[in-house]
Amino acid sequence: MKNKASLLNIVLAAVIVVLVFQLNNADHQQVQTKPTTNSSSQSFVIDSVNSIKKSVGPKGLIMPKPALVIGSYSDEGEPDIMTAAWAGIANSDPISIAVSIRPSRKTYENIMATGSFTINVPSARYVAETDYAGTFSGHDENKFEKLNLTPVKGDFVNAPYIEEFPIVIECEVSEMIDLGSHRQFIGKVMDTKVNQNLLDKDGHVDISALQPVAYSEGAYFGYGQHLANAGDIYKQFVPNATPNFQPIIHPNPTLSTIYNRKSVRHYTNQPVAEEKLTELVKAGMAAPTAVNKQPWAFMIVTDRALLDQLADSLPYAKMLKQATSAIAVCGDRTKALDGELRDYWVQDCSAATHNILLGAESMGLGAVWTGVFPRAERVNTVKNILQLPEHITPLNVIAVGYPTGEDQPKDKWKPENVHMNKW
Ligand SMILES: Cc1cc2nc3c(=O)[nH]c(=O)nc-3n(C[C@H](O)[C@H](O)[C@H](O)COP(=O)(O)O)c2cc1C
Repeated sequence: MKNKASLLNIVLAAVIVVLVFQLNNADHQQVQTKPTTNSSSQSFVIDSVNSIKKSVGPKGLIMPKPALVIGSYSDEGEPDIMTAAWAGIANSDPISIAVSIRPSRKTYENIMATGSFTINVPSARYVAETDYAGTFSGHDENKFEKLNLTPVKGDFVNAPYIEEFPIVIECEVSEMIDLGSHRQFIGKVMDTKVNQNLLDKDGHVDISALQPVAYSEGAYFGYGQHLANAGDIYKQFVPNATPNFQPIIHPNPTLSTIYNRKSVRHYTNQPVAEEKLTELVKAGMAAPTAVNKQPWAFMIVTDRALLDQLADSLPYAKMLKQATSAIAVCGDRTKALDGELRDYWVQDCSAATHNILLGAESMGLGAVWTGVFPRAERVNTVKNILQLPEHITPLNVIAVGYPTGEDQPKDKWKPENVHMNKW
Protein backbone atom coordinates (compact mmCIF):
# COMPACT_ATOMS: atom_id res chain seq x y z
CA MET A 1 0.00 0.00 0.00
CA LYS A 2 2.76 2.36 1.07
CA ASN A 3 4.76 1.39 -2.01
CA LYS A 4 1.76 2.08 -4.26
CA ALA A 5 1.30 5.56 -2.72
CA SER A 6 4.94 6.53 -3.23
CA LEU A 7 4.80 5.23 -6.82
CA LEU A 8 1.76 7.41 -7.41
CA ASN A 9 3.62 10.39 -5.90
CA ILE A 10 6.54 9.81 -8.29
CA VAL A 11 4.20 9.60 -11.32
CA LEU A 12 2.38 12.78 -10.18
CA ALA A 13 5.68 14.62 -9.77
CA ALA A 14 6.78 13.51 -13.26
CA VAL A 15 3.48 14.74 -14.76
CA ILE A 16 3.92 18.14 -13.05
CA VAL A 17 7.49 18.46 -14.36
CA VAL A 18 6.30 17.69 -17.95
CA LEU A 19 3.40 20.17 -17.66
CA VAL A 20 5.64 22.98 -16.37
CA PHE A 21 8.12 22.31 -19.19
CA GLN A 22 5.34 22.45 -21.81
CA LEU A 23 3.92 25.67 -20.38
CA ASN A 24 7.34 27.29 -20.55
CA ASN A 25 7.72 26.12 -24.11
CA ALA A 26 4.27 27.45 -25.05
CA ASP A 27 5.35 30.87 -23.73
CA HIS A 28 8.25 30.86 -26.15
CA GLN A 29 6.02 29.89 -29.02
CA GLN A 30 3.69 32.86 -28.66
CA VAL A 31 3.85 35.29 -31.55
CA GLN A 32 5.63 38.38 -30.45
CA THR A 33 5.05 41.41 -32.56
CA LYS A 34 7.64 43.99 -31.86
CA PRO A 35 8.22 47.29 -33.54
CA THR A 36 11.73 47.68 -34.88
CA THR A 37 13.06 51.11 -35.55
CA ASN A 38 15.72 51.49 -38.15
CA SER A 39 18.31 53.91 -36.86
CA SER A 40 18.64 55.66 -40.23
CA SER A 41 14.97 56.52 -40.57
CA GLN A 42 11.49 56.41 -39.07
CA SER A 43 10.88 52.99 -40.61
CA PHE A 44 8.66 50.81 -38.47
CA VAL A 45 8.06 47.17 -39.26
CA ILE A 46 5.65 44.89 -37.46
CA ASP A 47 8.10 42.06 -37.00
CA SER A 48 6.70 38.61 -36.27
CA VAL A 49 9.42 36.52 -34.65
CA ASN A 50 7.47 33.26 -34.59
CA SER A 51 9.34 31.14 -37.12
CA ILE A 52 8.48 27.73 -35.76
CA LYS A 53 7.51 25.64 -38.80
CA LYS A 54 4.98 22.83 -39.23
CA SER A 55 5.37 20.56 -42.25
CA VAL A 56 2.10 20.41 -44.22
CA GLY A 57 3.36 18.09 -46.97
CA PRO A 58 3.81 18.90 -50.68
CA LYS A 59 1.55 21.88 -51.45
CA GLY A 60 1.77 24.75 -53.93
CA LEU A 61 1.62 27.41 -51.23
CA ILE A 62 2.93 30.26 -53.31
CA MET A 63 1.22 33.35 -51.87
CA PRO A 64 -0.56 34.95 -53.56
CA LYS A 65 -1.37 33.27 -56.87
CA PRO A 66 -2.61 35.34 -59.77
CA ALA A 67 -6.26 35.00 -60.71
CA LEU A 68 -6.11 35.21 -64.52
CA VAL A 69 -8.77 34.58 -67.14
CA ILE A 70 -7.67 32.65 -70.22
CA GLY A 71 -9.42 33.39 -73.53
CA SER A 72 -9.55 30.89 -76.40
CA TYR A 73 -11.54 29.95 -79.54
CA SER A 74 -12.85 26.49 -80.31
CA ASP A 75 -12.04 25.12 -83.76
CA GLU A 76 -15.52 26.42 -84.77
CA GLY A 77 -14.60 29.93 -83.59
CA GLU A 78 -16.73 29.86 -80.40
CA PRO A 79 -15.07 32.06 -77.74
CA ASP A 80 -14.49 30.70 -74.23
CA ILE A 81 -12.90 31.92 -71.00
CA MET A 82 -11.63 30.05 -67.98
CA THR A 83 -9.94 31.15 -64.78
CA ALA A 84 -6.41 29.96 -64.05
CA ALA A 85 -4.30 30.43 -60.98
CA TRP A 86 -1.60 27.92 -61.94
CA ALA A 87 0.21 30.50 -64.03
CA GLY A 88 3.15 32.89 -64.06
CA ILE A 89 5.95 34.56 -66.01
CA ALA A 90 8.20 31.87 -67.51
CA ASN A 91 10.84 33.72 -69.55
CA SER A 92 12.09 37.24 -70.29
CA ASP A 93 13.36 37.02 -73.85
CA PRO A 94 11.12 36.19 -75.57
CA ILE A 95 8.74 37.26 -72.85
CA SER A 96 6.65 34.16 -72.11
CA ILE A 97 3.93 33.18 -69.67
CA ALA A 98 3.18 29.63 -68.49
CA VAL A 99 -0.31 28.42 -67.68
CA SER A 100 -1.20 24.90 -66.57
CA ILE A 101 -4.53 23.47 -67.69
CA ARG A 102 -6.24 20.12 -67.09
CA PRO A 103 -7.23 18.13 -70.19
CA SER A 104 -10.90 18.13 -69.10
CA ARG A 105 -11.23 21.89 -69.70
CA LYS A 106 -12.82 23.21 -72.87
CA THR A 107 -9.96 25.72 -72.89
CA TYR A 108 -7.44 22.87 -73.16
CA GLU A 109 -9.23 21.51 -76.23
CA ASN A 110 -9.36 25.03 -77.72
CA ILE A 111 -5.67 25.80 -77.18
CA MET A 112 -4.73 22.44 -78.69
CA ALA A 113 -6.82 23.36 -81.76
CA THR A 114 -5.62 26.95 -82.26
CA GLY A 115 -2.18 27.10 -80.63
CA SER A 116 -3.15 30.45 -79.10
CA PHE A 117 -4.68 31.98 -76.00
CA THR A 118 -5.08 35.32 -74.31
CA ILE A 119 -4.46 36.18 -70.69
CA ASN A 120 -6.92 38.67 -69.27
CA VAL A 121 -5.96 40.31 -65.99
CA PRO A 122 -9.03 41.19 -63.92
CA SER A 123 -9.41 44.18 -61.63
CA ALA A 124 -11.35 43.81 -58.36
CA ARG A 125 -14.42 45.04 -60.24
CA TYR A 126 -14.45 41.72 -62.18
CA VAL A 127 -14.01 39.29 -59.30
CA ALA A 128 -17.51 37.75 -59.79
CA GLU A 129 -16.90 37.21 -63.54
CA THR A 130 -13.53 35.64 -62.69
CA ASP A 131 -15.16 33.26 -60.24
CA TYR A 132 -17.90 32.33 -62.73
CA ALA A 133 -15.39 31.63 -65.50
CA GLY A 134 -13.58 29.30 -63.09
CA THR A 135 -16.73 27.44 -62.06
CA PHE A 136 -18.67 26.76 -65.27
CA SER A 137 -17.41 25.20 -68.49
CA GLY A 138 -17.46 26.26 -72.11
CA HIS A 139 -18.48 22.64 -72.75
CA ASP A 140 -21.94 23.64 -71.47
CA GLU A 141 -22.43 27.34 -72.17
CA ASN A 142 -21.04 30.51 -73.74
CA LYS A 143 -19.55 32.35 -70.74
CA PHE A 144 -18.94 35.59 -72.67
CA GLU A 145 -22.69 35.85 -73.33
CA LYS A 146 -23.65 34.75 -69.85
CA LEU A 147 -21.40 37.37 -68.23
CA ASN A 148 -22.18 40.08 -70.78
CA LEU A 149 -18.49 40.37 -71.67
CA THR A 150 -17.26 41.32 -75.13
CA PRO A 151 -14.93 38.95 -77.01
CA VAL A 152 -12.48 40.79 -79.30
CA LYS A 153 -10.33 38.79 -81.70
CA GLY A 154 -6.66 39.24 -80.90
CA ASP A 155 -4.62 41.37 -83.30
CA PHE A 156 -1.77 38.85 -83.32
CA VAL A 157 -3.23 35.48 -82.32
CA ASN A 158 -6.29 33.36 -82.99
CA ALA A 159 -7.84 33.89 -79.54
CA PRO A 160 -10.33 36.36 -78.09
CA TYR A 161 -9.51 38.86 -75.37
CA ILE A 162 -12.06 40.40 -72.98
CA GLU A 163 -12.65 44.01 -73.97
CA GLU A 164 -13.79 45.02 -70.47
CA PHE A 165 -10.70 43.70 -68.64
CA PRO A 166 -7.94 46.27 -67.93
CA ILE A 167 -4.92 44.27 -69.15
CA VAL A 168 -4.99 41.72 -72.00
CA ILE A 169 -2.05 39.68 -73.25
CA GLU A 170 -1.99 37.80 -76.56
CA CYS A 171 0.03 34.56 -76.50
CA GLU A 172 1.13 32.01 -79.07
CA VAL A 173 1.95 28.53 -77.72
CA SER A 174 5.70 27.93 -77.99
CA GLU A 175 6.08 24.84 -75.77
CA MET A 176 3.92 22.30 -73.99
CA ILE A 177 4.99 20.21 -71.02
CA ASP A 178 2.97 17.33 -69.58
CA LEU A 179 3.39 17.41 -65.83
CA GLY A 180 0.78 14.89 -64.67
CA SER A 181 -2.63 16.33 -63.84
CA HIS A 182 -2.00 19.45 -65.97
CA ARG A 183 -0.37 20.32 -69.27
CA GLN A 184 1.72 23.45 -69.02
CA PHE A 185 1.33 25.72 -72.04
CA ILE A 186 4.14 28.21 -72.50
CA GLY A 187 2.76 31.23 -74.31
CA LYS A 188 5.11 33.56 -76.17
CA VAL A 189 3.69 37.04 -75.61
CA MET A 190 2.84 38.66 -78.96
CA ASP A 191 1.19 41.81 -77.63
CA THR A 192 -0.03 43.41 -74.39
CA LYS A 193 -2.77 46.02 -74.15
CA VAL A 194 -3.47 48.13 -71.07
CA ASN A 195 -6.32 50.56 -70.37
CA GLN A 196 -4.73 53.95 -70.97
CA ASN A 197 -5.98 55.46 -67.71
CA LEU A 198 -3.95 52.88 -65.76
CA LEU A 199 -0.60 53.97 -67.17
CA ASP A 200 1.48 56.51 -65.29
CA LYS A 201 3.77 59.02 -66.98
CA ASP A 202 6.61 56.46 -67.16
CA GLY A 203 4.34 53.91 -68.85
CA HIS A 204 4.09 51.77 -65.71
CA VAL A 205 0.79 50.26 -64.60
CA ASP A 206 -0.61 52.16 -61.61
CA ILE A 207 -1.37 49.20 -59.36
CA SER A 208 -3.52 51.16 -56.91
CA ALA A 209 -5.75 52.16 -59.82
CA LEU A 210 -5.74 48.64 -61.32
CA GLN A 211 -6.77 46.92 -58.06
CA PRO A 212 -5.57 43.46 -59.13
CA VAL A 213 -7.00 40.20 -57.80
CA ALA A 214 -5.00 37.53 -56.01
CA TYR A 215 -6.18 34.00 -55.29
CA SER A 216 -5.22 32.07 -52.21
CA GLU A 217 -6.66 29.12 -50.31
CA GLY A 218 -10.09 29.27 -51.96
CA ALA A 219 -10.62 33.03 -51.72
CA TYR A 220 -9.94 36.16 -53.74
CA PHE A 221 -8.03 39.08 -52.27
CA GLY A 222 -7.37 42.60 -53.36
CA TYR A 223 -3.84 43.88 -53.09
CA GLY A 224 -1.95 46.94 -54.07
CA GLN A 225 -0.24 48.15 -50.89
CA HIS A 226 2.97 49.89 -51.98
CA LEU A 227 5.55 48.32 -49.65
CA ALA A 228 8.84 49.44 -51.14
CA ASN A 229 10.62 50.29 -54.37
CA ALA A 230 12.71 47.65 -56.10
CA GLY A 231 16.41 48.54 -56.22
CA ASP A 232 15.88 50.86 -53.27
CA ILE A 233 14.64 49.14 -50.11
CA TYR A 234 17.67 46.81 -49.96
CA LYS A 235 19.67 49.90 -48.95
CA GLN A 236 18.44 49.27 -45.39
CA PHE A 237 21.26 46.73 -45.23
CA VAL A 238 23.95 48.88 -46.86
CA PRO A 239 26.07 51.07 -44.53
CA ASN A 240 25.54 54.83 -45.06
CA ALA A 241 22.67 54.27 -47.51
CA THR A 242 18.99 54.98 -46.90
CA PRO A 243 16.13 53.89 -49.13
CA ASN A 244 14.35 56.83 -50.79
CA PHE A 245 10.96 55.25 -50.19
CA GLN A 246 10.59 53.57 -46.84
CA PRO A 247 6.99 53.21 -45.76
CA ILE A 248 5.75 51.85 -42.47
CA ILE A 249 4.88 48.21 -43.12
CA HIS A 250 1.79 46.96 -41.35
CA PRO A 251 -0.10 43.80 -42.31
CA ASN A 252 -3.49 45.46 -41.94
CA PRO A 253 -3.98 47.54 -45.11
CA THR A 254 -6.26 50.10 -43.44
CA LEU A 255 -3.82 50.67 -40.58
CA SER A 256 -0.99 50.70 -43.09
CA THR A 257 -2.68 53.60 -44.91
CA ILE A 258 -3.28 55.41 -41.61
CA TYR A 259 0.34 55.03 -40.47
CA ASN A 260 1.76 55.97 -43.86
CA ARG A 261 -0.31 59.09 -44.35
CA LYS A 262 1.97 62.08 -44.29
CA SER A 263 1.72 65.72 -45.24
CA VAL A 264 3.07 65.73 -48.78
CA ARG A 265 4.48 69.08 -49.92
CA HIS A 266 6.58 67.95 -52.87
CA TYR A 267 4.92 66.76 -56.07
CA THR A 268 5.82 65.62 -59.56
CA ASN A 269 4.19 67.48 -62.46
CA GLN A 270 1.90 64.52 -63.26
CA PRO A 271 -1.72 65.72 -63.19
CA VAL A 272 -4.26 63.77 -61.11
CA ALA A 273 -7.09 62.37 -63.26
CA GLU A 274 -10.48 63.92 -62.64
CA GLU A 275 -11.98 60.54 -61.70
CA LYS A 276 -9.41 60.19 -58.91
CA LEU A 277 -10.24 63.62 -57.53
CA THR A 278 -13.93 62.71 -57.66
CA GLU A 279 -13.15 59.45 -55.84
CA LEU A 280 -11.40 61.47 -53.12
CA VAL A 281 -14.41 63.73 -52.69
CA LYS A 282 -16.64 60.65 -52.57
CA ALA A 283 -14.42 59.29 -49.77
CA GLY A 284 -14.82 62.66 -48.01
CA MET A 285 -18.59 62.38 -48.19
CA ALA A 286 -18.43 58.92 -46.56
CA ALA A 287 -17.43 60.58 -43.26
CA PRO A 288 -19.85 60.67 -40.31
CA THR A 289 -21.61 63.97 -39.57
CA ALA A 290 -23.63 65.21 -36.60
CA VAL A 291 -27.33 64.31 -37.09
CA ASN A 292 -26.29 63.18 -40.61
CA LYS A 293 -26.48 66.81 -41.78
CA GLN A 294 -23.61 66.48 -44.30
CA PRO A 295 -23.14 70.26 -44.06
CA TRP A 296 -20.49 70.50 -46.73
CA ALA A 297 -19.48 71.47 -50.24
CA PHE A 298 -16.27 70.40 -52.01
CA MET A 299 -14.38 72.56 -54.49
CA ILE A 300 -12.07 70.63 -56.83
CA VAL A 301 -9.44 72.95 -58.29
CA THR A 302 -7.28 71.94 -61.26
CA ASP A 303 -6.90 75.32 -62.98
CA ARG A 304 -3.21 76.30 -62.84
CA ALA A 305 -3.96 80.03 -62.51
CA LEU A 306 -6.33 79.44 -59.58
CA LEU A 307 -3.84 77.11 -57.84
CA ASP A 308 -1.11 79.76 -58.25
CA GLN A 309 -3.40 82.46 -56.91
CA LEU A 310 -4.19 80.35 -53.85
CA ALA A 311 -0.47 79.63 -53.36
CA ASP A 312 0.38 83.34 -53.56
CA SER A 313 -2.38 84.41 -51.18
CA LEU A 314 -2.32 81.72 -48.48
CA PRO A 315 0.81 81.88 -46.28
CA TYR A 316 1.11 78.12 -45.67
CA ALA A 317 -0.03 76.85 -49.05
CA LYS A 318 3.05 77.56 -51.18
CA MET A 319 3.14 73.88 -52.21
CA LEU A 320 0.10 74.64 -54.39
CA LYS A 321 2.59 76.07 -56.90
CA GLN A 322 3.83 72.51 -57.41
CA ALA A 323 0.62 70.54 -56.77
CA THR A 324 -1.47 69.87 -59.84
CA SER A 325 -4.78 69.99 -57.99
CA ALA A 326 -6.49 70.92 -54.75
CA ILE A 327 -9.72 70.25 -52.91
CA ALA A 328 -11.23 72.94 -50.69
CA VAL A 329 -13.52 71.39 -48.06
CA CYS A 330 -16.18 73.94 -47.19
CA GLY A 331 -19.01 74.24 -44.68
CA ASP A 332 -22.49 74.99 -46.03
CA ARG A 333 -24.39 77.14 -43.52
CA THR A 334 -27.74 76.30 -45.11
CA LYS A 335 -27.20 72.61 -44.24
CA ALA A 336 -25.61 73.07 -40.79
CA LEU A 337 -27.33 72.61 -37.43
CA ASP A 338 -28.76 75.66 -35.62
CA GLY A 339 -27.79 77.57 -32.46
CA GLU A 340 -24.96 76.27 -30.32
CA LEU A 341 -24.76 73.09 -32.45
CA ARG A 342 -23.95 75.14 -35.56
CA ASP A 343 -20.18 74.67 -35.29
CA TYR A 344 -20.49 70.90 -35.61
CA TRP A 345 -19.87 71.62 -39.30
CA VAL A 346 -16.18 72.11 -38.44
CA GLN A 347 -15.92 68.59 -37.02
CA ASP A 348 -17.95 67.14 -39.87
CA CYS A 349 -15.79 68.78 -42.51
CA SER A 350 -12.64 67.77 -40.59
CA ALA A 351 -13.75 64.12 -40.70
CA ALA A 352 -14.35 64.47 -44.45
CA THR A 353 -10.91 66.06 -44.83
CA HIS A 354 -9.20 63.21 -43.08
CA ASN A 355 -11.02 60.67 -45.25
CA ILE A 356 -9.65 62.56 -48.27
CA LEU A 357 -6.11 62.51 -46.84
CA LEU A 358 -6.28 58.76 -46.16
CA GLY A 359 -7.91 58.11 -49.53
CA ALA A 360 -5.08 59.98 -51.24
CA GLU A 361 -2.46 57.95 -49.38
CA SER A 362 -4.18 54.68 -50.32
CA MET A 363 -4.27 55.71 -54.00
CA GLY A 364 -0.57 56.51 -54.17
CA LEU A 365 -1.29 60.24 -54.14
CA GLY A 366 0.12 62.83 -51.76
CA ALA A 367 -1.91 65.49 -49.98
CA VAL A 368 -1.58 68.12 -47.27
CA TRP A 369 -4.22 69.97 -45.22
CA THR A 370 -3.65 73.74 -45.25
CA GLY A 371 -5.83 75.59 -42.76
CA VAL A 372 -8.25 78.38 -43.72
CA PHE A 373 -11.17 78.69 -41.22
CA PRO A 374 -11.31 80.26 -38.56
CA ARG A 375 -8.85 82.92 -39.90
CA ALA A 376 -11.23 85.49 -41.40
CA GLU A 377 -8.61 86.89 -43.77
CA ARG A 378 -7.87 83.46 -45.29
CA VAL A 379 -11.59 82.63 -45.49
CA ASN A 380 -12.20 85.82 -47.49
CA THR A 381 -9.18 85.18 -49.71
CA VAL A 382 -10.36 81.67 -50.67
CA LYS A 383 -13.96 82.85 -51.06
CA ASN A 384 -12.82 85.57 -53.47
CA ILE A 385 -10.49 83.38 -55.53
CA LEU A 386 -12.96 80.47 -55.86
CA GLN A 387 -15.99 82.79 -56.05
CA LEU A 388 -17.81 81.01 -53.24
CA PRO A 389 -21.35 82.12 -52.36
CA GLU A 390 -22.02 83.88 -49.04
CA HIS A 391 -23.25 80.76 -47.16
CA ILE A 392 -20.14 78.66 -48.03
CA THR A 393 -17.13 78.81 -45.65
CA PRO A 394 -13.84 77.11 -46.66
CA LEU A 395 -12.39 75.07 -43.78
CA ASN A 396 -9.18 74.32 -45.64
CA VAL A 397 -7.47 73.82 -48.98
CA ILE A 398 -6.00 70.34 -49.47
CA ALA A 399 -3.15 70.24 -51.99
CA VAL A 400 -3.24 66.98 -54.01
CA GLY A 401 -0.68 65.54 -56.41
CA TYR A 402 1.74 62.71 -57.06
CA PRO A 403 4.43 62.66 -54.36
CA THR A 404 8.11 62.88 -55.27
CA GLY A 405 8.87 60.66 -52.26
CA GLU A 406 10.68 63.39 -50.31
CA ASP A 407 8.03 63.47 -47.59
CA GLN A 408 8.07 60.51 -45.19
CA PRO A 409 5.63 59.41 -42.50
CA LYS A 410 6.38 60.13 -38.84
CA ASP A 411 6.05 57.75 -35.92
CA LYS A 412 3.80 59.74 -33.56
CA TRP A 413 3.04 56.99 -31.04
CA LYS A 414 3.52 58.35 -27.50
CA PRO A 415 2.24 56.00 -24.79
CA GLU A 416 2.46 58.82 -22.21
CA ASN A 417 -0.52 60.47 -23.94
CA VAL A 418 -2.74 57.52 -23.13
CA HIS A 419 -4.68 57.21 -19.86
CA MET A 420 -6.81 54.31 -18.74
CA ASN A 421 -10.15 54.81 -17.07
CA LYS A 422 -9.40 57.76 -14.66
CA TRP A 423 -6.50 60.25 -15.28
C1 LIG B 1 -9.57 30.68 -58.86
C2 LIG B 1 -9.55 29.53 -59.81
C3 LIG B 1 -8.37 29.11 -60.36
C4 LIG B 1 -8.33 28.06 -61.27
N1 LIG B 1 -7.13 27.67 -61.81
C5 LIG B 1 -7.09 26.68 -62.73
C6 LIG B 1 -5.87 26.33 -63.37
O1 LIG B 1 -4.83 26.96 -63.14
N2 LIG B 1 -5.89 25.32 -64.27
C7 LIG B 1 -7.01 24.62 -64.56
O2 LIG B 1 -6.96 23.68 -65.38
N3 LIG B 1 -8.20 24.95 -63.99
C8 LIG B 1 -8.27 25.97 -63.11
N4 LIG B 1 -9.46 26.34 -62.54
C9 LIG B 1 -10.67 25.62 -62.92
C10 LIG B 1 -11.24 26.09 -64.30
O3 LIG B 1 -11.22 27.46 -64.42
C11 LIG B 1 -12.67 25.56 -64.44
O4 LIG B 1 -12.65 24.16 -64.47
C12 LIG B 1 -13.40 26.12 -65.64
O5 LIG B 1 -14.77 25.79 -65.50
C13 LIG B 1 -12.89 25.59 -66.98
O6 LIG B 1 -13.60 26.22 -67.99
P1 LIG B 1 -13.63 25.66 -69.51
O7 LIG B 1 -14.09 24.23 -69.45
O8 LIG B 1 -14.61 26.57 -70.18
O9 LIG B 1 -12.25 25.78 -70.06
C14 LIG B 1 -9.51 27.39 -61.64
C15 LIG B 1 -10.74 27.83 -61.09
C16 LIG B 1 -10.77 28.87 -60.18
C17 LIG B 1 -12.08 29.34 -59.61
